[in-house]
Amino acid sequence: MCGIFGFTGKQDAAPLLLKGLSRLEYRGYDSAGICVVNGNNNFYIGKAVGKVMELRNRTEGVDLAGYTTGIGHTRWATHGGVTTNNCHPHTSSDGRFAVVHNGIIENYSELRTMLQNEGYIFYGETDTEVAAKLFEHLFDEDDFETLKKLTTVIEGAYALVFIDRENPNRLFGAKLGSPLVIGIKGDSCYVSSDYRSLIGTVEEYITLEDGDIFCIENGDYRIVNCEVELVRDKESITEKEQAMELGDFPHFMLKEIHEQGEVLRNVFAGRVDFQEKTIRNNTLDEIVAQGFERIHIIASGTSYHAGYLGKQYLEHLADLPTEVTVSTEFKYGKQFIDRKTLYIFVSQSGETADSLESMKIVNERGGYTFGIVNVPGSSISRLAKSGLFTHAGVEVGVASTKAFTAQIATFLILALAFGQKKDLEYTRFLSILEDMEKIPDRIETLLKTSDRIREVAEKYARYPNFFYLGRSYELPIAMEGSLKLKELTYRHSEAYSSGELKHGSLALIDADFPSIIINGSSPLHGKNCSSVQEVKSRGGKMIGIIASNDQKKDIYDDYLTFEASLPETEVFSEVVILQLFAYHMANALGRDIDKPRNLAKSVTVE
Ligand code: G6P
Repeated sequence: MCGIFGFTGKQDAAPLLLKGLSRLEYRGYDSAGICVVNGNNNFYIGKAVGKVMELRNRTEGVDLAGYTTGIGHTRWATHGGVTTNNCHPHTSSDGRFAVVHNGIIENYSELRTMLQNEGYIFYGETDTEVAAKLFEHLFDEDDFETLKKLTTVIEGAYALVFIDRENPNRLFGAKLGSPLVIGIKGDSCYVSSDYRSLIGTVEEYITLEDGDIFCIENGDYRIVNCEVELVRDKESITEKEQAMELGDFPHFMLKEIHEQGEVLRNVFAGRVDFQEKTIRNNTLDEIVAQGFERIHIIASGTSYHAGYLGKQYLEHLADLPTEVTVSTEFKYGKQFIDRKTLYIFVSQSGETADSLESMKIVNERGGYTFGIVNVPGSSISRLAKSGLFTHAGVEVGVASTKAFTAQIATFLILALAFGQKKDLEYTRFLSILEDMEKIPDRIETLLKTSDRIREVAEKYARYPNFFYLGRSYELPIAMEGSLKLKELTYRHSEAYSSGELKHGSLALIDADFPSIIINGSSPLHGKNCSSVQEVKSRGGKMIGIIASNDQKKDIYDDYLTFEASLPETEVFSEVVILQLFAYHMANALGRDIDKPRNLAKSVTVE
């Protein structure tokens, strides 16, 4: 959803900007640009449609020595087509100021008309170009004071970073709604949409808050919020540079699929005591002690699917009625906020605008908000009253994998924590807990069957449409598998309750419309087998994702197996198979696996 990166210091800025932008590419990758300035007050502006690699090629061979301050941007278009003209940085008409922006300026159309009436001529269609021209219009010889004025005029969400040709050692900007951090090491100062772009570059960073206006110059910085000069706490970067590197894997997605065993060990550590056979964690103790009577889960995309599985866990294991709403609908629906409900917000990035805005509503109206978030220091993690981190580490691939398994593991722990204090039978609690401990090893064994998954994926790669079917615990897995296929292969797929297919959608089934059914050892196994027969008797092809001890393998055209365990834990194996299935099919089709077309990993606009 657009990544911005800035640098000022003694080194040449361009290589640093390009490295930073390539790490922010997950936020959008339809075009990229940089603007750097040197001590002689010259700007160099480079822009390219396409990935940061295109921009790198464009700037190669240009002598940018001595250009030691600059800003860069990688774009996910919201206003205006994907063209070089709409690519950031945008400049003022007099060419003195350049700006990069993440967010949406909602009143840009009125402002553009006003500026056009004043004689300003626009070269593109973006809301950001309006900010550049408006800055020039408001300029009163002081960058910082002008910035303050600008923030009183623009409405919407923004992280803005400017440079001024006349002050070539200065970066300045403002934050409202969209994320922005500052990292400083000696004379070198950086700003970025995500601290993880600074891993291996600085050891500490400052997260800016909404309303902050900052100026960085000659190794020093100031932050002002509501006219008050502030000192914000620094946070340490603990991740290692390797987290951002591929190692021996061809794609980050495959690397991240392979990390899932280790990720789950991290999720369990400090929360599940496998020796003493209990859930032990202060946050969980506190939340369980609140006596909530209901749960409402709010999330988008993959995190919504994790929430949907969370509902199954919380209802089946903890007897807590649970509602799940996509955050895109929550904010504009009728909200019934009450004190007896726990509002859980699930987000890998912790920055998804739809989820964040929904959370603010619940907070404002006195509801108890709980975050299940992967990125420490992210907005959702900071605004939640309490929460749990998913400890999945940096996820680079746009299609979420390890973050999902970490989320569902967190929900399982949460449900067991509630269940432990409520009516969950101890023997059932114990059997799930004992089985949970085996999940990481099971995933690692399953990954060794990747070749068989590849064979089946390649066999079906030519079909344009798919149904993903499942029920109960396996319906959210079908939903997540279907989303992976869409994101990665651009094939159409729909997830359905297998029981629901007969109520209309069965009309689509023919020999060219295969279905995938997730049919492990659940009590609904027999009902799912009936759904398989309904599809087969209409000439449809069926792939089964089934337990290795399944006695009815012959009803499927093809099947992929996993070790049988419990319905609550089989879902982990099932989703890993579906991740690999989508991965291998996308590979066979020659898709851009880590950066699928039209998408962004972190969507920070509504
Ligand atoms: C984007 C990503 C999805 C992700 C969703 C929610 O659409 O492409 O992969 O599931 O945002 O993101 P979050 O960070 O809130 O989990």
